[in-house]
Amino acid sequence: MAKMWAGRFSKEVDETVNAFNSSISFDGRMYAQDIRGSIAHATMLGDCGIISATDAEAIIAGLKGILADLESGELLMDPTAEDIHMFVEAELTKRIGNAGKRLHTARSRNDQVALDVRLILRDEIAEIRQLLRNLLNTLVTLAEHHTMTIMPGYTHLQRAQPVTFAHHILAYVWMLLRDDSRLADTAKRMNYCPLGAGALAGTTYPINRKQTAELLGFTAPVANSLDAVSDRDFCVELANALSLLMVHLSRFSEEIILWCSWEFKFIELDDAYATGSSIMPQKKNPDITELIRGKTGRVIGDLTTLLTMLKGLPLAYNKDMQEDKEAIFDAIDQAKLCLKTFDPMIATMRVNQENMRAAAAKGFINATDCADYLVKKGLPFRDAYKISGTLVAKCIREGLTLETLPLEAYKEASDAFDEDVFDAISLETCLNGRISEGGPSAPAVMEQLAAAKNAIEAL
Ligand code: ARG
Repeated sequence: MAKMWAGRFSKEVDETVNAFNSSISFDGRMYAQDIRGSIAHATMLGDCGIISATDAEAIIAGLKGILADLESGELLMDPTAEDIHMFVEAELTKRIGNAGKRLHTARSRNDQVALDVRLILRDEIAEIRQLLRNLLNTLVTLAEHHTMTIMPGYTHLQRAQPVTFAHHILAYVWMLLRDDSRLADTAKRMNYCPLGAGALAGTTYPINRKQTAELLGFTAPVANSLDAVSDRDFCVELANALSLLMVHLSRFSEEIILWCSWEFKFIELDDAYATGSSIMPQKKNPDITELIRGKTGRVIGDLTTLLTMLKGLPLAYNKDMQEDKEAIFDAIDQAKLCLKTFDPMIATMRVNQENMRAAAAKGFINATDCADYLVKKGLPFRDAYKISGTLVAKCIREGLTLETLPLEAYKEASDAFDEDVFDAISLETCLNGRISEGGPSAPAVMEQLAAAKNAIEAL
């Protein structure tokens, strides 16, 4: 494709350089946003009398035709074009002649690309938030079914204290709700229009930046023309929000990988969401979750790419910034893929309540409650803690649990123990007693569930 800037040059650009310089293979994705931005720009140019009303109309009709033809597949993008902006403009001029050459009045590709990226990220954020909302609803439904499903809570991956599956799932609901609010915040902060900043120093034409900002649904124009074309902080913010979202999905995935193992067997994935081995016939592998864990590294890499790309750049536009798109689009695509597969995988997995309960009954997760029993009988907590520890050690030596240890052994350790200790250390008592706000007892979890549902509804 002939270069728009050919006038200044005496030779055609080297073929390898052209391929190296070209971004259409990845910025072609922004064709609809590019055309939308150009329609707003042409409308404003016409209204301000910078181009004639007839030219503005011809440009707008031409752009609409290009959009329709790209969408139907009738028009294919030229892979040798420098970028999507040049491609659309050249195609317009091919279709409508001289009027097409007036579209780029009072505009530069620098403010154009800053606009297009904002527009597409705004759309993508809305899509990701919808996927996230779907997952949140799936998780809340799952939690609703398991407010009485006792499982061990862990620290250091050692059984620690009793919780319920609902409580555990709700922990992720709150993390994902914060991810959503980070995405919403990013969208809000990026919603300022760079159009009219020109290459870097505005323009001498009597443009109306408020009008284009309004036409494109922005809060206002970006206040400083240099800032408008120089920063990609919104890409960094989005990559950061997506990295954290991925980190949450990755930790959740890691737990699902553990829970699927024969060592845990807390859950079983539906056959449609697991994979087999090419050699070991018995295998049912949680590949989806492992891929999510793996892709998290990749999205964090995208964030690092963006930060590193920006950190040494003098104002204003530098070509380094063309690298923003592949990084942020990759982060978006990976996060969307992960949400789309994780959600139905969770919705279809089977929960093995018996195994969860059996695990909770084994790991001395009532040892704290045994100590608390003595505290209620008047012993200082440190003494009670020590006695409870001695009893655990005795149980381990003798192959018993606190539930099966005879009363005499309790009484030997402290005469404060009585028959009622067995009720005090039963899993139900240990769970039901945890009524503190945000705790795992059924009433506390019901309150949490209601709050989570309200928060999701308010999104
Ligand atoms: N393809 C370029 C990008 O993505 C568009 C802006 C080019 N501007 C320029 N002055 N070379 O960043």
